[in-house]
Amino acid sequence: MAKKKLKAIDLFAGIGGVRIGFEAAGFEIAYSNDFDKKAAETYRLNFNSIDESNLFDAIKERGMKRIPKRFDILLGGFPCQPFSVAGHKRGFADKGRGNLLFAVIEILKARKPKAVFLENVKHLKNHDDERTFKRIQNELKGAGYYMKAEVLNSMTHGNVPQMRERIYMVGFRSPRTLMKFRFPEKMPLTRTMAGVLEKNAGEDYYYTDKYEILYPKLKNAVRRRDRVYQYRRVYMRENKNGVCPTLTASMGMGGHNVPIIRDARGIRKLTPRECARLQGFPESFFFPKTQADAHLYKQIGNSVTVPVIARIAENVRIAIES
Ligand SMILES: C[S@@+](CC[C@H](N)C(=O)[O-])C[C@H]1O[C@@H](n2cnc3c(N)ncnc32)[C@H](O)[C@@H]1O
Repeated sequence: MAKKKLKAIDLFAGIGGVRIGFEAAGFEIAYSNDFDKKAAETYRLNFNSIDESNLFDAIKERGMKRIPKRFDILLGGFPCQPFSVAGHKRGFADKGRGNLLFAVIEILKARKPKAVFLENVKHLKNHDDERTFKRIQNELKGAGYYMKAEVLNSMTHGNVPQMRERIYMVGFRSPRTLMKFRFPEKMPLTRTMAGVLEKNAGEDYYYTDKYEILYPKLKNAVRRRDRVYQYRRVYMRENKNGVCPTLTASMGMGGHNVPIIRDARGIRKLTPRECARLQGFPESFFFPKTQADAHLYKQIGNSVTVPVIARIAENVRIAIES
């Protein structure tokens, strides 16, 4: 008889990158939540449903009734802005965002799943002289979870040509299960930028004389076809190792931060599909045709590298089931 699938709830689900990774490792998603309308639309296009509400409302209304009674793991890539170097470093003081971790803790205390998986920016570890990280550890411990955390890079742990360091935290109620859990090892990087690029990117992605101020700067800086560049407001960053710099949520804003390349036809930014490939999303993943690229870039930058998640999820499943 086939083994019963482990059940997960997908909080701060975004467009479902975490979900795809856990599903690939054999988990079943019992509930998902995100309050971003555009991300929820993309999620709905690819999966069955999503509770499109503020998580605080979802757990306050009628005493957490929307959250399933039984599930095995809580998945939560809680919002990283309060902790990222780019943000204001306000951490837990950032009401309604930093504090979302406490919503997660409340759910853990009420439902007591076997495990919890959290993802965040690398900087979380050092934020506020490591006080934030210690607080998270203590909060989890108070809820009954022992955790391991590790910073993994998508290019060394997910076989995608994107430099992306993130902290992954995995907690279990059982110390024995925690002992059995290992983060995935490094793996060779075989995928290249050339393998990610679309053959016929649309005209709209190319820079021309139309961009009076930017274009001359780009022509001067974006010289090599084996490099990926990023325009950071006032200067151009060249990534010397031939991989793509970290895709960020701010890619959507005014076109800044979207990685730039030179190809046979000219200088252009990466397309949303190419960015999705750099996050290891499958080709079968759909994006709503009605949404502007700005929304899609933001959703992809906000998401996760699917193969890294899938490898962690596989090890979580093995630890629970062995
Ligand atoms: C870093 S992204 C998570 C990405 C997601 N795990 C994925 O795989 O694509 C954080 C998400 O949290 C959502 N979010 C932030 N505050 C929220 C709240 N109060 N209630 C529900 N969702 C919220 C944002 O809309 C965003 O999609």
